[in-house]
Amino acid sequence: MNIVKLALAAIVMLGAPAHTPIASASDGIEVNHLGVNNTLVRVTGDSRYLLLPVQESNDDARINLLVDGRLDKTINVRLAKSKVDYYVPLDLSPYKGHEVAMNIITTQGRSTVREAKEDVCWKDMTLSDTFDTANREKYRPIYHHTPKYGWMNDPNGMFYKDGVWHLYFQHNPYGSKWQNMSWGHSTSKDLINWTAEPIALEPTGLGTVFSGSCALDTNNTAGYGKDAVVGLYTSAGASQTQSLVWSKDDGKTFEFYPANPVITLESEARDPNMFWDENAKQWVLILAHAPEHEMLIFTSPDMKEWTLQSAFGKGIGAQGGVWECPDLFKLKVDGSDEEKWVVICNLNPGGPFGGSATQYFVGNFDGKTFKADTDASGNIPTKWMDFGKDHYATVSWSDAPDNRRTAIGWMSNWQYAAEVPTMQFRSANTLPRDLGLFRAADGNIYLASAPAPELLALRDKLTVNVRRTNIGKKAKTYSLPATNSGACEILMDIDARKSKQIDLVLANNAGEKVVMAYDVAWHALSFDRRESGIVDFSQDFPAVTVSPTFEDNGKISLRIFIDKSSIEVFGNNGQFVMTNLVFPKNPYTALSISSTDGNAKIENLKIYSINE
Ligand code: FRU
Repeated sequence: MNIVKLALAAIVMLGAPAHTPIASASDGIEVNHLGVNNTLVRVTGDSRYLLLPVQESNDDARINLLVDGRLDKTINVRLAKSKVDYYVPLDLSPYKGHEVAMNIITTQGRSTVREAKEDVCWKDMTLSDTFDTANREKYRPIYHHTPKYGWMNDPNGMFYKDGVWHLYFQHNPYGSKWQNMSWGHSTSKDLINWTAEPIALEPTGLGTVFSGSCALDTNNTAGYGKDAVVGLYTSAGASQTQSLVWSKDDGKTFEFYPANPVITLESEARDPNMFWDENAKQWVLILAHAPEHEMLIFTSPDMKEWTLQSAFGKGIGAQGGVWECPDLFKLKVDGSDEEKWVVICNLNPGGPFGGSATQYFVGNFDGKTFKADTDASGNIPTKWMDFGKDHYATVSWSDAPDNRRTAIGWMSNWQYAAEVPTMQFRSANTLPRDLGLFRAADGNIYLASAPAPELLALRDKLTVNVRRTNIGKKAKTYSLPATNSGACEILMDIDARKSKQIDLVLANNAGEKVVMAYDVAWHALSFDRRESGIVDFSQDFPAVTVSPTFEDNGKISLRIFIDKSSIEVFGNNGQFVMTNLVFPKNPYTALSISSTDGNAKIENLKIYSINE
């Protein structure tokens, strides 16, 4: 470089510091553009939260959080480019008294630094001592569990201890689409009212935190104390491996086992679910060997050393897509002393109506190997736990009281979960369900999912009460409660022995409707949501789902739970279930019942409003 150039360079450097903070950034935030796709944001103010502006249609920006100059964690956030859809909070309280900065790498095409500076996120990042979680969503359920904000998929890691039901869930705390997998946490004393707890597990150097399970170590086999809460989850990094965690404070926070991972395989395997086998005095673990369509069964004396015992599933049941989120437990067959084992196998895609769904197998388990029962023709039948489109990743609570096997699902479908018309949060859970087994007329044993008994407490006012009525071709119409956006529970016994079909129509004043039809000869109940409200956010959403009714006498009893954006139909105390999302413009206000080709009787028709 000649002397003139050197002098010029010096003048430029003196005159303008290389990293000029942009003038318009909020107070306490300094933004320095290091390159076209690389920005350094320094937090100089002192507040509880840094609010990050999100634009959902953007690509993720990678944010390396630097604390005193060292990398603390990396998160991915769809930082706003041209408009802010909502904010997500980065909690700064753990770093009080330390220097916090973010190195932000964007991927979207900006060709010059000048252009990158125009992104609205730089001036819209703000410091705040509060983050407003007040509900801003029309479709947030009134009595189903949801995260207060951000994305949720699988329920997982659930356990019960000292009167408290712990529910963890796959959570993105930095946006309402799948990303940054962490374990969100909620607790409840009654399975209805949920308290949001701090995030329980965040990504580590081994990867993000995928689904898993927790169990109480009653015999202190792992050495963390009697009744310690021990968890196993999938670390999803470049490989999927299984990691052990344990809690000193009953599941609020977790410690990491230093020798993680405890299980490694050469191919994708995830969602470990473990329980203590009292007979063999050892731990049993079922793990989804996802793309291989099989479940692997391991045993261990201490949850740290695992031995592979068997594999189950190759070539049986529904095989499409990947197998995920397994569960394995024993239940009594209703009305007998016979005990059977059940393998729950969630699969995606490959469900009966497209996308994700939950299948299960009934059989025997000898402590090492599961063998599914065959039907009369020697085949292993494919069985579905729920015949709606919005029931996935269902698993059960460990250590539930009174020998209960209580399960809960994710009330959505991977086909459109990220597109449903909500934004502040995405996805709710199904209602909790108590599982049982029953032998049906075809001789096979099936899984029943009955609404958990706690749900009776939801009932508020009895708004319709009809002891018995005859139903013909002309529909009889009953009003649905006007309170709480029409949230209600409908009960009825249908005697359709002299009819061919019973239609149950839920309708609103916007001309939207859900049509359920009980086909007596087919022993089937269908659910048509094609005109149920907003359906055009995904071509996979408008659909008709159909469930077998498992009766042979033209009589069924229904319990239907309606919330702001869901309908769950339980038949014959859970022998068949259909869970479907709906997004009506206005709540449904009326239920009409009619019968085709002959009269039917409706008995014990009751409608209860539901309290918030
Ligand atoms: C099922 C699933 C799991 C995985 C998790 C990741 O919905 O794919 O197999 O652990 O979601 O969020």
